Amino acid sequence: MNYDRAASNYERFVVKQRFETPALELAQVIIRYTDADRENVCIDLGTGTGIVITQISKLNPNFKIYGLDSSSEMLQVARSKGIDNIIKISLPSIPFPANTFDVVSASFVFSHVREIQDLLKNIKTVLKPSGFLVFTTWGEGQTAYNSIWSDTVKSYLSDDYLNEITKTNIPSETFFEEPENVVELMQENGFLLVEHYVRQFSKHLSLSEYLDCRYSLLTGSIMENILSENLWQSFKADTKYSFSKVVGDSITYVGNVNFFVFKIAGDE
Ligand SMILES: C[S@@+](CC[C@H](N)C(=O)[O-])C[C@H]1O[C@@H](n2cnc3c(N)ncnc32)[C@H](O)[C@@H]1O
Repeated sequence: MNYDRAASNYERFVVKQRFETPALELAQVIIRYTDADRENVCIDLGTGTGIVITQISKLNPNFKIYGLDSSSEMLQVARSKGIDNIIKISLPSIPFPANTFDVVSASFVFSHVREIQDLLKNIKTVLKPSGFLVFTTWGEGQTAYNSIWSDTVKSYLSDDYLNEITKTNIPSETFFEEPENVVELMQENGFLLVEHYVRQFSKHLSLSEYLDCRYSLLTGSIMENILSENLWQSFKADTKYSFSKVVGDSITYVGNVNFFVFKIAGDE
């Protein structure tokens, strides 16, 4: 996904609706696994607009936290919120010496990274032997309304094109939905499962709030990018009409989130 283009809408609509509450819970998990009496050093991979960093800092201001992301504009939004220690670089690269971090975190990022095995190898290097890797992925059954959205999108874009942009931008979203896949991948790459649970988050929204978020996610922002202004306005009118026929003028968004904690195998 072109996060550069999407950064300001992402912060305004997507973070507020979908990412802020899981990020707070991720921060709480991180705090639970660290010793509050000493300084802990953490890196948040694919930090985006820095939401996880903000939440950890609120819970424990003594954390030293670095953030890393490949999108300048996402990082610019993070900087505008006063977040320092952020680096523009593309994963799997993590440019830090071995044994640097007590915690490596990643909030909804692994499904975007093509070279996942190289990334896991690099995480193992920068994590202290006693450290934890803490991350979230979307779980199955995110929303009952996906079919209304995709049916409308399909009247503007072909299935093949849609599949291609999804595969290019989020190559392994469905793989990471399944906890069994994740645990197997991690074990094969030298990690040991410490904790996994699924949490359901829901939010009651007006239809226009819900759609503003969808317009800023992958297919929405691609549509805005490639359609003429007239077609884009017509797509927005069509989505509004299709949704309002089914849900009226408000909607309950439901998202299932996997929370994972791993450590390096052999260091238990
Ligand atoms: C779904 S967003 C999550 C952002 C943030 N972690 C949050 O919870 O709000 C995914 C983020 O990963 C970043 N990203 C995707 N692929 C990346 C890569 N190969 N290297 C670094 N960052 C990447 C994107 O720029 C984006 O900010």
